[in-house]
Amino acid sequence: MKIHNFCAGPSILPNEVFNQASRAVKDLDESGLSLLEISHRSHAFVNIMDEARDLALELLNLSGSNYTSLFLQGGASSQFLMTAYNFLKNEAAFLNTGTWSKKAIKEAKLFGKVDVLGSSEDKNFNHIPDFTISKAYDYFHCTSNNTIFGTQMNTFPDTEIPIFCDMSSDIFSRQLDFSKFDLIYAGAQKNLGPAGATLVLIKNDLLDNIKSNVPSMMNYKVHADKSSMFNTPPVFSIYVSMLNMRWLKSMGGINEIEKNNRKKAEILYSEIDLNPLFKGHSEIKDRSIMNATFNLTDDSFKQTFESMLSEANIEALAGHRSVGGYRASMYNAMSLDSVKVLVEVMSELESKI
Ligand SMILES: Cc1ncc(COP(=O)(O)O)c(C=O)c1O
Repeated sequence: MKIHNFCAGPSILPNEVFNQASRAVKDLDESGLSLLEISHRSHAFVNIMDEARDLALELLNLSGSNYTSLFLQGGASSQFLMTAYNFLKNEAAFLNTGTWSKKAIKEAKLFGKVDVLGSSEDKNFNHIPDFTISKAYDYFHCTSNNTIFGTQMNTFPDTEIPIFCDMSSDIFSRQLDFSKFDLIYAGAQKNLGPAGATLVLIKNDLLDNIKSNVPSMMNYKVHADKSSMFNTPPVFSIYVSMLNMRWLKSMGGINEIEKNNRKKAEILYSEIDLNPLFKGHSEIKDRSIMNATFNLTDDSFKQTFESMLSEANIEALAGHRSVGGYRASMYNAMSLDSVKVLVEVMSELESKI
């Protein structure tokens, strides 16, 4: 039975990745040993780590000598404080576009001054606010995709100030000039792999600009100098992330997956716009192609709609409590067919009423 899983994260991964990962848990590459019982310093795992780090750079067009990729622990939430711990010397600028930006701002305030250049909080984060960077800061921090509210940044500032970006929910989903960013981070559990690893891509220049007295586990340079093996890394998450990046590369990389992602978003948003029973949460110009947030225009259809969803084997469509309604997360591994099933249910509801 095919389940259409729209979960916002942890989320779906390609079936072939699940199959290969489950085989490796029992027997890694016919070694007779489980991926989970070999030393992280073994050749087998060092090769996995190297391939994962290289693939991340390659897929983002960042290969070469300018960037280092790291797989760290503590989730994207640890990056909220780690970025500030390493680089907030005086004042940093932030864009407040939702729950995750707010959390990043809160952590940064523990380390220095924070200037919020724009916020859409007064409109329940239904758009990306305008902003300008008019003075020098240690860095500018933004969230490229707002998982909870369903908005996404389409442009990023041209500035001399280092740009740090939380790409947890849209990394590897669309093409950008990634070299614009000085530091990118993403928790694995959406477009990358299972929870447990956090991908960080950092410009090498920054590694020489870290504050003094940053504890080892919080220090990007310590992790970079040890090739992301300062301590035992989350081996399973990294291995599955590597398999998933191999899959993405074999699909034609970001350019190809982006076409699919845009098609999925297009058919869902056109149903939301055309069907009078639904309304979208976000402003059209800032809609996310990863997480579509919407609601019923009349709550009395809720029960009928939800029983139709479950009959169609649609899972995890509930919106986050701060928005309500529904949220369809359409990460890379989601097929166009699954989105079509959802769209059919929505249009069937209209024809029933
Ligand atoms: C955009 C964004 N940033 C940060 C986080 C927090 O990630 P983690 O749970 O890995 O700390 C999430 C989680 O969903 C997210 O969507």
